[in-house]
Amino acid sequence: MTYASIKGTGGYLPERVVTNAELERLVDTSDRWIQERTGIRERRIVGEDQTCCDLAVIAASRALDAAGMKPSDIDLVTLGTCTPDRVFPSTACLVQRELGITPGAVAFDVGAACSGFVFALDVANRFILTGGARRALVIGAETMSRIIDWTDRGTCVLFGDGAGALVLEADDTPGILSTHLHTDGSFEDLLNVPWGVSQGYDKLEGSAGKLKMRGNEVFRVAVRTLGRIVDETLEANGLNKRDVDWLIPHQANIRIIQATAKKLGLPMDRVVQTVAEHGNTSAASIPLALDTAVRDGRIKRGELLLLEAFGGGFTWGSALIRY
Ligand code: UT7
Repeated sequence: MTYASIKGTGGYLPERVVTNAELERLVDTSDRWIQERTGIRERRIVGEDQTCCDLAVIAASRALDAAGMKPSDIDLVTLGTCTPDRVFPSTACLVQRELGITPGAVAFDVGAACSGFVFALDVANRFILTGGARRALVIGAETMSRIIDWTDRGTCVLFGDGAGALVLEADDTPGILSTHLHTDGSFEDLLNVPWGVSQGYDKLEGSAGKLKMRGNEVFRVAVRTLGRIVDETLEANGLNKRDVDWLIPHQANIRIIQATAKKLGLPMDRVVQTVAEHGNTSAASIPLALDTAVRDGRIKRGELLLLEAFGGGFTWGSALIRY
């Protein structure tokens, strides 16, 4: 039996820290409101000349180092992002070039907003299980600050920039046990960027190209949906809630994370929480959280990890992994 196993993880946050106090000077908000309603204390923002690819390259290099591999060992790159450098080439292709990953390997972006990393992980897992790749770099990288309306207090306090990555390798010991993906396009109006290459391109003024969210409605669907996917994932593997060692959730809001942990009956010290330090980094948030807890020694080999994400589309997904 072949599995895709995690061989190394990496993460990167841009240097510039934006605190809640700084945002108090931009919009009508308060550190207290932001911390109470979201759990966020600060977020990181890219420099003017930094791109999504730049963040991804650093995170991916760190994951390769941790795996003891070279770029030439990699034959697949899947990269989840909703803030790519350009329309094309894909950011994954740019990462391939920057890192010197073997020409002729396969690299492409996966678009699923905040669930982008779990979707990219699912795709890479399928490549490995079907023999299409042996060693894959899976990346989540975002420059959310470029699509944020800095006059909208309902969204600008929530998001941040960053990248996380992991290296998967075909192995006969587990591994990714299962992945579960879902989407529902009928919720498009609750969370979107109402601008693109072939729609709204002629109306790009003011905040037209920026992220719009009806936060409270998104919140309620997210809590409901993530509760369901936790059950689906455990049932598919014939496992029980108490078998899960670590929940590694998408870091959007501490209250959503707490609701999912409660559903699992997991104490919060078994939940990796990084939302306070970097806010919602969309597709980067799960690999950043995973990397944090691997590097500080909390997550140990052999433990059972449950990853879950929810994002614009709506998209949602999970992965159950024996680390
Ligand atoms: O990652 C992709 C998925 N995204 C998410 O999961 C985000 C989901 N949503 C959320 O995390 C939460 O809904 C928010 C953090 C966005 C908002 O929290 P909430 O508890 O749902 O607040 P709300 O939208 O119901 O707003 C409550 C009040 C409103 O004022 P009124 O109408 O009661 O007077 C808002 O205008 O809070 C106000 N408000 C703010 N006040 C201070 C909204 N944003 C702010 C702010 N500072 N930044």
